[in-house]
Amino acid sequence: MKLTMFGTGYVGLVTGTCFAEMGNDVLCVDVDEAKIAALEAGQIPIFEPGLEAMVKANTAAGRLRFSTDVAEGVHHGEIIFIAVGTPADEDGSADLKYVLTVARTIGEHMTEPKVIVDKSTVPVGTADQVSAAVAETLSKRGAKIAFDVVSNPEFLKEGAAIADFMKPDRIVIGSGSAEGARKLDALYAPFNRNHDKIVHMDVRSAELTKYAANVMLATRISLMNELANLADRLDADIEAVRRGIGSDPRIGYNFIYPGTGYGGSCFPKDVKALIHAAGESRYDAAIMRGVEEVNEHQKRVLFDKLYQHFDGALEGRTFALWGLAFKPNTDDMREAPSRTIMELLFAHGARVQAYDPVAMSETARLYPGEPALTLCERRDETLNDADGLIVVTEWNEFRSPNFDYVKQTLNEPVIFDGRNLYDPDYLGQLGFTHYAIGRGNRRGLS
Ligand SMILES: NC(=O)c1ccc[n+]([C@@H]2O[C@H](COP(=O)([O-])OP(=O)(O)OC[C@H]3O[C@@H](n4cnc5c(N)ncnc54)[C@H](O)[C@@H]3O)[C@@H](O)[C@H]2O)c1
Repeated sequence: MKLTMFGTGYVGLVTGTCFAEMGNDVLCVDVDEAKIAALEAGQIPIFEPGLEAMVKANTAAGRLRFSTDVAEGVHHGEIIFIAVGTPADEDGSADLKYVLTVARTIGEHMTEPKVIVDKSTVPVGTADQVSAAVAETLSKRGAKIAFDVVSNPEFLKEGAAIADFMKPDRIVIGSGSAEGARKLDALYAPFNRNHDKIVHMDVRSAELTKYAANVMLATRISLMNELANLADRLDADIEAVRRGIGSDPRIGYNFIYPGTGYGGSCFPKDVKALIHAAGESRYDAAIMRGVEEVNEHQKRVLFDKLYQHFDGALEGRTFALWGLAFKPNTDDMREAPSRTIMELLFAHGARVQAYDPVAMSETARLYPGEPALTLCERRDETLNDADGLIVVTEWNEFRSPNFDYVKQTLNEPVIFDGRNLYDPDYLGQLGFTHYAIGRGNRRGLS
């Protein structure tokens, strides 16, 4: 099939590349000229395991192309995906300006029937707005051309995006027309061979399904973080509690890791957007408000432990920080807890020596010329002359450092372990002061 992706970010690039891998003829369009120029030159603008090789193979095979020409994009695809950003507006609502710009672009340039697919995460009712925007633009041109708008939310996870897309748990297709659903069924058939993963539903339910999934997962994280803060106060160990509850199949082990709060491009904005949508419907989403509030607090917890440890005397101190990306296997820094922690340290006059396996250039882009930040090329360089080590992202290479070296190099053997990577008893034996999340009173209160 001929496909166009509008938006060549994490979702558009991965999705477009995976569709090309299945033999489709894909054109990825973006308004960001630098991004398209880089892709045309074979450079991948994001870090995503396995993506580079797949982009190169499909580009070489002529099945995957990149362009900034929106008219060409509209003409190319019999199915046109809208995969642009839907950031949180100031009031928390999802900002639909990019989505509706693409809708109008489609209306301006289409000359034959199209299936338009909302792949971006969009509030309930957006497909109607996209339909209205396309119809209005067509009517301004005096054109009468049929089109369908289908909701097909994306569930891929950054860091495992290709595997998620190639072997999805489910494929949600929300459609008001048999033709739109039929086309997407045919497109997804190669991803649906093992057993039927396609869940058909109406458009509004599909739109809500995406938010419901993210809010459900964010709720598990915030509830676990709340339990961790309680465990600190009650001198219990949240890691024992986690294993104790995860073994219940009704609960399970996924998404119950306590830590420094959720970040990334999806959970924070999607929770906010659903709270806003609830408010617009005059419904008070009390649980979701709590999920967000707990998360905002959680991003500070590790800093608060550090502040208490040093009795607030942070001015002039230097800290080693491991892990900048909001989670491992991505360079995405959007809403990353590392940013909250670093900014609190800067505000208190401390310096940060930071390292991340892939998010260094993104950090440099976000903090240009920040005098209190040094980006170190190697993990252990961060430790030189540092007053303590802060671990924020659970990259594998942080799991088993040479603790003797860490202890010798730090000015003071203190570790603030935001992901409960280390065994408190072992670190205690080695002579470290170890603060973690929810591991009991003696390991620092949050
Ligand atoms: N990142 C994820 O893990 C993930 C997962 C599932 C769903 N989503 C949702 O998918 C959507 C896209 O997310 P993302 O992370 O890929 O965003 P992104 O910011 O990485 O990419 C969006 C791209 O859209 C481009 N764009 C903006 N306006 C455009 C226009 N008029 N025409 C063409 N391109 C345009 C931007 O330049 C940018 O490159 C969001 O709604 C997000 O919530 C994201």
